[in-house]
Amino acid sequence: MTQPTIKIALVGAGMFGGDVHLRAYADLQRFGIAGQLARVGLDKFSRDLAPVKFELVAVATRSEKSAKRAAEEFLRITSYASRAYFGDEPWHDILRDFPDLDVLAVATPDHLHTQPILAALAKGVHVLTEKPMCLTTHEADQIIEAARAKNRIVAVDMHKRYDPDHLRIRDDIQKRIGAPLYGTAFLEEPLEVSTSTFKWVESSDPFSYVGPHWTDLIYSYYRAKPVSLTAVGQKKRLVRDGINAYDAVQVRVDFDNGMSINFHNNWITPPDFEGPVNQGHEIVGADGKVESDQQYRGFRWWNKGGGSRTSNNHFTRDVLRADGTRAYVGYGVDSLTVGLVAVCRVKFAGETRDAVAHLYPTAEEARITCAIVDAAARVRDLNFKYLAEGKGATVTARFDQDGITLCDPNRASEGADKVFQRIYDRAI
Ligand SMILES: NC(=O)c1ccc[n+]([C@@H]2O[C@H](COP(=O)([O-])OP(=O)(O)OC[C@H]3O[C@@H](n4cnc5c(N)ncnc54)[C@H](O)[C@@H]3O)[C@@H](O)[C@H]2O)c1
Repeated sequence: MTQPTIKIALVGAGMFGGDVHLRAYADLQRFGIAGQLARVGLDKFSRDLAPVKFELVAVATRSEKSAKRAAEEFLRITSYASRAYFGDEPWHDILRDFPDLDVLAVATPDHLHTQPILAALAKGVHVLTEKPMCLTTHEADQIIEAARAKNRIVAVDMHKRYDPDHLRIRDDIQKRIGAPLYGTAFLEEPLEVSTSTFKWVESSDPFSYVGPHWTDLIYSYYRAKPVSLTAVGQKKRLVRDGINAYDAVQVRVDFDNGMSINFHNNWITPPDFEGPVNQGHEIVGADGKVESDQQYRGFRWWNKGGGSRTSNNHFTRDVLRADGTRAYVGYGVDSLTVGLVAVCRVKFAGETRDAVAHLYPTAEEARITCAIVDAAARVRDLNFKYLAEGKGATVTARFDQDGITLCDPNRASEGADKVFQRIYDRAI
């Protein structure tokens, strides 16, 4: 009997795809998925899924050099030769060459997720995608429609849901602190990311890039939907380097359960900072408060010439094996694991995508974040313009049964249809 197999191709192998995805797939290639399942509460599938073989058949990036480098790294860790692809749209070549591909993993820049996702779905291939799933609500709808039509999984890598501290908040603490009133969530990225790692900063912004982690996390706690938001951003640091991108963005979202959450993001933290990123969140409830510092969890060291450093060992960590290689575990891997379990259930147990939707962060859930990102970007740009003109930051967005409406009081003299502009016409 042939061994049940899941064939994966990875598009995008930069800072995240080349590190987290590639290493996670390397462990799957060598040892399968069973060992990862208790971490995400899915160990009831361990026996069924233990025999499943995972193969990373292809890896694709923008340039030939980086594609070959990623394939060589995978070969070094696993002794398995994945095929290297490169170019502007290398996913088409992969989908052509591997008609039996099961999963396309997408870790391309933020603005380049929709094309490979739709191409994969058109061929009946499941998708594991980096966040944000896409940058507009319309694209989110296209993705969901295609996934439904083909009964295919689009799992979004929302790994903050699987941080052990966050699982404790979701399953326990949030009930203790009572109805949520307000909160803050922040993620501050290093300057290096915006000035050297990413070639695509001008096509994204700090909130679109890392805000989705928190909007999705808050959604996973409360299942609340947005009713309105306002947003502002600043451009002072990156313009010094000739980069026309926001340094920082602040978004306040009001939700249908009455809570109001401030999301603060930047990508200009100087290298002197002690951790890889600064991040955390806190929520005040009617009967208490929860604080979660994700950066400094009480683990810090310093040494001569090395400065003071922290590390988030919950995200991913290396566990030494007897043969000297290292197992890769953590919540950064967990969110990929759950998507692959859903794919296995559809492929091997004949389940529908609806039946497995509770197993992983779905495209339908990601759509809520996409709608927030989409509206926030428009509100932020208008407020940026009006602030420069000395008119304050008075633009907001409203979400209701009719869709998403921008509210711009600066256009009052032009009539109500200019003050209230519908940018999307379906309920979120
Ligand atoms: N889940 C997380 O915590 C997390 C962390 C970092 C990044 N990300 C997300 O991962 C994605 C990638 O981010 P990154 O940090 O790896 O960026 P990066 O710039 O380091 O890497 C991007 C990769 O995409 C490839 N690429 C670019 N254009 C391509 C094209 N047209 N076809 C094929 N490949 C192409 C590049 O060659 C590179 O390999 C982004 O969406 C980002 O938001 C997620």
